Parts: sequence; C-alpha cells; structure tokens
Amino acid sequence: MTIVEACESRTNTTPDFPMGWYTVGRSHELQIGEVTNVTAFDRELALYRTRSGAVVLQDAFCPHLGAHLGVEGRVVGESIRCPFHGWRFGTDGVCEEIPYCEDIPERARIRTWHTEEKHGQIWVWFHPENTGPHWELPDIPQFGAEGWTLPRFAEFDVPAHIQDIAENACDPVHFQYVHKQPDVPPSEVTIEDNGRILHLNSDASNAPIPNQLHATVYSPGHALVHTDYGPGAEMLVYNSAQPIDRHNTKMRWSLIVRKEIEDLAGDDVMQGIIDGLSDDYPIWANKVHKHKPLFCKADKTLVLFRKWVRQFYLTEKDKREIA
Ligand code: FES
Ligand SMILES: [Fe+2]
Repeated sequence: MTIVEACESRTNTTPDFPMGWYTVGRSHELQIGEVTNVTAFDRELALYRTRSGAVVLQDAFCPHLGAHLGVEGRVVGESIRCPFHGWRFGTDGVCEEIPYCEDIPERARIRTWHTEEKHGQIWVWFHPENTGPHWELPDIPQFGAEGWTLPRFAEFDVPAHIQDIAENACDPVHFQYVHKQPDVPPSEVTIEDNGRILHLNSDASNAPIPNQLHATVYSPGHALVHTDYGPGAEMLVYNSAQPIDRHNTKMRWSLIVRKEIEDLAGDDVMQGIIDGLSDDYPIWANKVHKHKPLFCKADKTLVLFRKWVRQFYLTEKDKREIA
C-alpha cells in the first residue's frame, strides 16, 4: 500500500534565513540624523545615519530597560541616544555615555550589523553566526552609465519565505501556467565554478515581445535580470530582498533601461512587472514551504535549485558544533 504523507502545517516548516546580502532601505530614504526602525530576519533593528553620513544598523533593544532605539531614538554626532534614559551607543555598539552615571557597565553594548551602500541601496550582510561578508557585493557597470536611464523603484511585501520566492528563477513551467505565457520558454540553468552564482538563460523568442532573458542570481533574493529585445533595446531589473520573518519578505526592485527605449519601455515595463507579481501572489500567499518536494523527472532545474540553495544554510553538523 502506498503511504500518503500528511500535509505540512503552514507555519512550522520554513527554513532559517539564507546567508547573503540583503537590503534594508534605499540610500535616499535615510537622511543625515534620521533614525528608523526595521524588522528583518525576525528581529527588531534600529537604522540611522550619523552626522558624518555613515549608515548604521544595530539591534534595536536597549540593554538597559529594553526601549526600542529605532523609535524616537536620537542621532548625536556619531552615536545614537536611547529615548528612555539617554544612554548613548557608538557606531561599534559600545555604550559611550550614561548621562547620570560615570561607571558604564562592561556589558552595555548592542550588536552592530555589517552594512554597505551601493547602487543607491543600503545593504546588510546576514550570516547566522554573525560573521563578516563571505563575498563582495557585485559591480553593475550599467548603473550610472551613459546610455542608461536613472533607476525606477518598486517594492512589495510578499507573504512567503525568501527561498520560495527565489525558486521562481529556476521554474520555467510556472511561466506558462501562472504568467500565461504561450508555452514554456526553453531555459538553461548553469552555475559558475565558484558554485555560488547561478545563471538562467531563457529563450523567449516566441513571446509577444520576443526577447532573450538572462538572470544572474548571486544568492537567494539577490539577482540581476537582463532582458534583451534587440540592438539598443535592453532592460535591467535588479532585485534585492529584505526577509522580514520566515513567512514574509519585502522585495525591492530597481529598473533601468537603455535611453533609446525609455519612452516606450520605462513606465510600462515597470507596471508590467508589478502586474506580473500579482499573478504569483495568490500562489505565494497560500502555499506551504515543501521541505521535501515530490519532483518528477522533468523538474531538473528545480532539483538543481534545491541543491544550490543548501550552501546558504548551516548544515546540521555546523549547528551541532555551535551548540
Ligand atoms: S532603556 Fe535605554 S536608556 Fe534606559
Ligand atoms: Fe513568477
């Protein structure tokens, strides 16, 4: 007799957060002296820009009585002051001042996350063991280059785990069923020698607007999609994500196109991509994360994705060693 597995619970099967670079905002949204709160990796964080212009992301809860530094906290020079009793923490997280006490306890410190600003976004490196970056952010020469437009931005909250959203890149079949393409575009997935960077090439010459699509996936939730419609008609969509918790992800997209096709493609294409997301939305909002999917023989690119994605998580052995 074939045993049929019980259905997964919607809430208890999602994995941890994959290591990698994520965004927590756009540079222009955070002015000098501004403090804001961010929820990422199922944690509360405080994000601020110091007087000298440095971006700082720190754990939000003050070690004193637990006030949220990102809500009503105040930038003072190169530090942040807690709104509750005025303790002041430097950009390295160490308490520099308690206004009513000369002795600062040794443990008066908060965690500072590794951040960088690039391509108009504020990036944070995430690793479950709090290590420094294992790889650099990529250079994307088309950003700011002559011949390309300034970026258009969009962002959305998606009720799904970051890995399940990223899996779309290796799922050519869903283009036919979810995105109503006439057929499944011939697609090839390859992985660079370093094992990390994944490429998807899709030949959409049968699409209503024929194109060649090339996606470079640097890590789950961090990808560059290049679509080529012919000479001078190119478009780049740069995707970055902010995992909010295990069931919710904020997606940030920056779109640039060749100036030759800006009038034709700029706003319409962005709108088209946003509309495309509403195709995926009901699937994402109602699916479970399948820890062990049942694949058929033709699901080769999905199988490849699941093997590839493992490198971004700690293994069971890693976890035992930490414990
Ligand atoms: S809770 Fe932050 S100073 Fe008291
Ligand atoms: Fe999709």
